[in-house]
Amino acid sequence: MPRLPTSLLRKAYAIDSLLPPLLGPCRDLNSARNELRWLREHVDKVSRARYTKGGSSAKGGLLRTLVRKRVSGGKPIGAPLQYGLGTEYFGDLEIEVRPGVLIPRPETAASVTHLTRLVRDARELPTELRILDLCTGTGCIPLLFHDVFYSVRSDVELRFLGVDISSKAIALANRNLQRLRRSKKYVHKGVTEFMLADVLVNPFADRARRPDEPLPLKSALNFNKKRVFWDILVSNPPYISPSAFRTTTARSVRGFEPRLALVPPGEAGRSDTEQGDAFYPMLLVAAIDAEVKIVLLEVADLDQAYRVARMAQGMQVYDGIEIWRDQPDQAHDGSSQPSSEFPIIGQGNGRSVLCWRGPGALWLGKNNGEASNAGPLVQKPYSELDSVSKPEAVHSSLHPESFMQMQGGRRNV
Ligand SMILES: C[S@@+](CC[C@H](N)C(=O)[O-])C[C@H]1O[C@@H](n2cnc3c(N)ncnc32)[C@H](O)[C@@H]1O
Repeated sequence: MPRLPTSLLRKAYAIDSLLPPLLGPCRDLNSARNELRWLREHVDKVSRARYTKGGSSAKGGLLRTLVRKRVSGGKPIGAPLQYGLGTEYFGDLEIEVRPGVLIPRPETAASVTHLTRLVRDARELPTELRILDLCTGTGCIPLLFHDVFYSVRSDVELRFLGVDISSKAIALANRNLQRLRRSKKYVHKGVTEFMLADVLVNPFADRARRPDEPLPLKSALNFNKKRVFWDILVSNPPYISPSAFRTTTARSVRGFEPRLALVPPGEAGRSDTEQGDAFYPMLLVAAIDAEVKIVLLEVADLDQAYRVARMAQGMQVYDGIEIWRDQPDQAHDGSSQPSSEFPIIGQGNGRSVLCWRGPGALWLGKNNGEASNAGPLVQKPYSELDSVSKPEAVHSSLHPESFMQMQGGRRNV
């Protein structure tokens, strides 16, 4: 690697004595200044949090340690700063991050916070509300939902189950849970658990499993004696198509965050777009199996949001479907609102699809039947669903059992 010119080092030092060491990993002055700004912001947040817990609010030592770590920690150039810092803020929560597990994003936090506030404000909720988070990563979604909900309301027992295929992610999610449980702010209510399972695999598929492979979701729920019925399903699954991964995904993401968390696996005969969308049919079937009343699925953009909303609509079980932008709590200025098949809420890029049915409407503060882009409330057999909504042949053996469950074991909410 070429040496940095002395003139550049001098210039950097004149701006800030902490900049020259950062030029090593960053290679140019602008990037080094950005990193130093992020490090300072991080130190500010950490010191504020420590001060609230009665600790020291000193910043200088921590900042110098982080700069040293960044330079000598052997982190490859271009690696996300958060992996060096070891934590990232998700809403107000400081979440531990590690290479091998996706760094949580602020847009996800915005959707989860908005959903939680809507539910939190509902007049009537079941005494126990069960929330399933598929593809949980660091566990950030259940942990934030817990935090936002219990910061205001404590009359409901929240039960969370976060599921991931990666044992690294499950271990980190458990660490994050333990870490938050030790903080003063944590409200010790409800139950939060994490479980290893594969949400893409059909449990009835006739194929040999390797002994080290995670169980399919349905089998893992049974095997681990977890609840079968859930109220809310949230998921931020891998949703980037291979071509978008190559062409539009930032190098720091492509090179350092796990591909498993970003790009769904390929399958013979699948187009690029179908591969990017591969998780959604499975998630929607899981939602029906679990008799979920509210579903929130994160997507890459407005195009994918429409495709997912149409899949959900084709299932003909939802009373309402809408698309949320990055900031769903902000009123849209109306200037670029396309005449849309689905209501689009908030500002920014298309970010998630929200579906609700039955009591889910009340939990979200919707009038029953509002925004009914979802067709009649009639449960059709899967065999009659059209090809857009039918979650491919892989699910076919799920269906008879799904319906038996629905008829035999409905949980009152
Ligand atoms: C986009 S990340 C989301 C992580 C976290 N929920 C968040 O918002 O930061 C997707 C997660 O899906 C997990 N994943 C990938 N394939 C999976 C599968 N077949 N079954 C379950 N989880 C899977 C990855 O390990 C990764 O943690």
